[in-house]
Amino acid sequence: MRTDETAAILLKDYRPSDYAIGRVHLDFQLHETETLVTATLSVRKRETTVAGTPLVLDGDELDLVSIALDSVSLGDEAYSATPQGLTVKTPPAAPFTLTIVTKLDPASNTKLMGLYRSSGVWCTQCEAEGFRRITYFLDRPDVLSVYDVRIEAPVAAAPVLLANGNPTTSGLVPDTDRHFAVWSDPHPKPSYLFALVAGDLGVVKDSFTTMSGRHVDLGVYVEHGNEERAVYAMDALKRSMRWDETAFGREYDLDVFNIVAVSDFNMGAMENKGLNVFNDKYVLANPDVATDQDYGGIEAVIAHEYFHNWTGNRITCRDWFQLCLKEGLTVFRDQEFTSDMRSRPVKRISDVRLLRSHQFPEDAGPLAHPVRPEKYMEISNFYTATVYEKGAEVIRALKVLIGDEAFKAGMDLYFDRHDGDAATIEQFVACFAEASGRDLSQFMLWYSQAGTPQLDIRDDYDGDNRTYRLTLSQSLGPTPEQSEKKPMVLPVRFGLVGPNGEDMLYETAKGAEVNGDVIVVDKAEQEIVFTGVASRPIPSILRNFSAPVRPILNMPIKDILFLMRHDSDPFNRWQSASTVAMYCLTASTEALRAGSSATIDGDYLAALAEIITDDALDPAFRALVLALPQEADIAREIGSNVDPDAIAGALRHARRTIGSKLGPTLDHLARFYHDEGAYSPDAESAGRRALANAAQDMRAASGNADVHARIMEKFGAATNMTDRLAALVSLVQNGASEAEQALGDFYEGYKSVPLVIDKWLAVQAARPGARTLDEVKRLTEHPAFSIRNPNRVRSLIGTFATANLPQFARADGAGFDFVADKVMRLDDINPQVAARILVSFRSWRNWEPVRQGLAEAALKRIAAKPNLSRDVRDIAERSLA
Ligand code: ARG
Ligand code: ZN
Repeated sequence: MRTDETAAILLKDYRPSDYAIGRVHLDFQLHETETLVTATLSVRKRETTVAGTPLVLDGDELDLVSIALDSVSLGDEAYSATPQGLTVKTPPAAPFTLTIVTKLDPASNTKLMGLYRSSGVWCTQCEAEGFRRITYFLDRPDVLSVYDVRIEAPVAAAPVLLANGNPTTSGLVPDTDRHFAVWSDPHPKPSYLFALVAGDLGVVKDSFTTMSGRHVDLGVYVEHGNEERAVYAMDALKRSMRWDETAFGREYDLDVFNIVAVSDFNMGAMENKGLNVFNDKYVLANPDVATDQDYGGIEAVIAHEYFHNWTGNRITCRDWFQLCLKEGLTVFRDQEFTSDMRSRPVKRISDVRLLRSHQFPEDAGPLAHPVRPEKYMEISNFYTATVYEKGAEVIRALKVLIGDEAFKAGMDLYFDRHDGDAATIEQFVACFAEASGRDLSQFMLWYSQAGTPQLDIRDDYDGDNRTYRLTLSQSLGPTPEQSEKKPMVLPVRFGLVGPNGEDMLYETAKGAEVNGDVIVVDKAEQEIVFTGVASRPIPSILRNFSAPVRPILNMPIKDILFLMRHDSDPFNRWQSASTVAMYCLTASTEALRAGSSATIDGDYLAALAEIITDDALDPAFRALVLALPQEADIAREIGSNVDPDAIAGALRHARRTIGSKLGPTLDHLARFYHDEGAYSPDAESAGRRALANAAQDMRAASGNADVHARIMEKFGAATNMTDRLAALVSLVQNGASEAEQALGDFYEGYKSVPLVIDKWLAVQAARPGARTLDEVKRLTEHPAFSIRNPNRVRSLIGTFATANLPQFARADGAGFDFVADKVMRLDDINPQVAARILVSFRSWRNWEPVRQGLAEAALKRIAAKPNLSRDVRDIAERSLA
């Protein structure tokens, strides 16, 4: 139990619980107004616990009705209870049963943690610490129990009653309008994996036969009328189940697997055992309402939650510091799944873009923390890009370091050895050390040192001796509470690219361990000497982004352009294109600030035209090459004294120039790859649409009125949401005179579909121009908006704060003030969502002094709010520290 609201929890303080809870029986009496929960816990003192040690259970805003020990009511002197915890002062030494009755009001639970109602459906979210909002418990992941759950509810309001595990009995409650269902989950699990759903829902049913012949009934539950939109999710689920068998040898282990879509959800989805609960955004799709990106997101999140069944549920975390044990690993697994379902290089590039835009700024700012943190105030704030995405990168780097075979052996050993455990990162990594025979103690630094290492690359060719010298040095700057850093082990995939674009051969490599195409960098500086190199090579370093570092290329632009054209590694081809674009954009930004004008490299334009018209290349890949770095990417590259307006100006200039200079090429691509046929969400069709729309969008940047008129026509004639939304975004982002009309039509067409209205809100929040803030304020009063719905809040306020840097970081501070006001309002409703939005301030010290001062004032105003939640206080204080 947490007594001091401001005390930090430390990894080094971990110790096992004094008591174990072997069995849990829960009885839910669901009513429209209040709900009674009876928890019957089989409690047993651990052997090492001194008899009579108090049993201290967690609670959060609970209302205790009664408590009994071995069926005898406890007297007042025997226990103490507050909304935040319950202590049984001197429990018996022998095993005993504790029966606790609590009273809840799910309808007024706006935090969406614990048991709450969403559009009339009762549902739960327990990770990380929501179970303690249902009953008093040892609410920690290392307490594993077998659960039986009885749900009783009105038949009319809740014909569907679901919980974890397998269904056992069900029936009507005589002489009432109520019925019940009992669910039993034979697999011991931590409380954060508990789930219950009760409501009037439609369902898509199917079945799956596992590799050993187990028949599994599958269900995807959605609001009535949405069944047809759940078909793709069901298909993604079946593909995920099969893939985990073939790729990882992991089979499903219950007779049923259910997914429920709810419309109010703090995060993406939740992997509760046998009963995944999803944000409906990651379930519902049909061509009219969902984009290719939505389909991809559904496929990935369905897979992610399903894969948790082994990485998270069968093997869970010892404590919340080990969160990356399940999240980083499961992201790695879902990335592999998507790579197998779609294009591997395109997936890799997309993942690295996401890592750079979400994780790098985290690692470079006041909220930086190790992949495995050592301290937290509020664990909800550690469901971060560092834990998830960098956590996955670290596993990917491990695979490169030890090789595919040892990696596979290590995974098998992990599943075998730790099935049923609440494990740690040490135990996980030990499996790979054992399987590979490699000492991984230096590798562990990836889990303990925060920040993004820089990898500085210099080279030198000696023609007389045909030797090539590559000097790689790593450095890692200070991060909060970590001033001194040690050199890490970086597996660096590389190639020495010869004049014909092919990788050159060499005779020997000395100065570092080189395994095939991987250099193992493990010292602050290493000089690798290659002999027998026929001519001066161009180094292609960090191929496929083999480690999550920031490479510093000390290379002339012409060499990078050469790699952009010729590198055999698709990732580095894309990377080189992006590096050159970034050179141009940062130079233009500087020029604009100095009062001169922006420019764009002609050779870059030529190479860009060459790639986007190369029919041998995957259209999806070409679309990624055409996508320029975004404002936030440029700001991050510049690093300090950032002026968002200058950046926006540089980007506008680059897009306008490309849009007009490559006009005919872009028009051709937009026409040629525009599909008129029936929509299919597969990767190939999506790739064609991506290229057509990227070309159309760049063309629109030229400002040509005919182009805008043509896009408006396509907007009206679009037969799927991908093309319709792409047209809308192009019109709005590029200031077309048709934008207002298109926004109005879009709203009229989709006002009854909240998930599409989210797109409409986001497009307006991301709109360039000084009028956007007033427009966003107006939209917070729009009937389609609700401050209580996380998806609406993220679409409008979240998009404004994260995807519209010039307007959020306005020079007059009005953007900061608006977001700060909303954070404070949200703080009283849903602290988790409030804290998420507040994170958008994290790079404030990188901005120019005036904006810095205004952002700091806004942060201080938030920090000073009375009754600030622990979630928001934690982010505000760390941001200001
Ligand atoms: N474990 C979930 C996932 O699949 C995330 C749930 C976290 N929820 C929360 N409220 N912190 O990634
Ligand atoms: Zn997860």
